[in-house]
Amino acid sequence: MKMKVLAIMGSPRKRGNTYQATQELEKEMQKLGDIKFEYLFLKDAHLEMCRGCFNCVSRGEEFCPLKDDREDIEKRILEADGVIFASPVYCQMISGLMKNFIDRFAYIFHRPVFFRHRALAICTTAGSGMNETLKYLETLHIWGFGKMNKLGVIIPPWTMSEALKKKNQQNIEKSAHEFYKSLEKGGMARPTLTEYIHFRFMKFTSSMGDYFPADHEFYQNKDNYFYPVKISPFKRIGVTIMMKIVLFLMRDVGPADN
Ligand SMILES: Cc1cc2nc3c(=O)[nH]c(=O)nc-3n(C[C@H](O)[C@H](O)[C@H](O)COP(=O)(O)O)c2cc1C
Repeated sequence: MKMKVLAIMGSPRKRGNTYQATQELEKEMQKLGDIKFEYLFLKDAHLEMCRGCFNCVSRGEEFCPLKDDREDIEKRILEADGVIFASPVYCQMISGLMKNFIDRFAYIFHRPVFFRHRALAICTTAGSGMNETLKYLETLHIWGFGKMNKLGVIIPPWTMSEALKKKNQQNIEKSAHEFYKSLEKGGMARPTLTEYIHFRFMKFTSSMGDYFPADHEFYQNKDNYFYPVKISPFKRIGVTIMMKIVLFLMRDVGPADN
């Protein structure tokens, strides 16, 4: 079946550098196989500014007071096989549009859902802030994507040297190959140690049902991991011991009633 990629575009310039870099990547990926690409321009999406009520995280996303395209966007991501998060560097970081988009989905950091999906972070910059921006976008792996692919493209405001053009093109081709390969592989992998530790800590905090009722419900039938998968007894026992030690060391900062 044809694979589908949804590119979430965080630049207010719809046909700007970030779009052009993403289009170049699409062109390279189309050489490898028939992929359906869709573009979601956050500039045009009806996605209001997060009000910071924290309802989505604590009580559940259905309690978000903002009625806009958030739910539809989540559905579109779920329907895709791959997701691209593309942003220009603005003052050393992602754009405001991209940050608000991420804030509006804050609950997914607590209750991840995109395990079947693969993701690629793209940023374009005039020269600085690329590593910081890509590193930040990489935190989206927590939404379930696992290891993220990354692509940084440098587009200076002056005429680009042939060497930089070549380097950008090489990076785009490399990323297209890697992202295509990870999409082709697909499936839900065995969690890495870090991913498993993350699950165990989330499950632990979810047990404080008063603070996070939505997490409590989400994690209560997830005993092993987010999805059915074999976890080695060594991993399970090792992480249990590690958690006991960490929780002992943190005994003074935990909730008084737990
Ligand atoms: C408000 C603003 C802030 C920017 N901040 C940076 C920056 O910190 N470092 C940098 O190298 N380029 C910076 N740039 C340049 C953009 O990252 C670069 O031109 C990018 O490719 C623009 O992508 P776009 O055409 O898709 O919007 C900034 C541009 C704008 C408009």
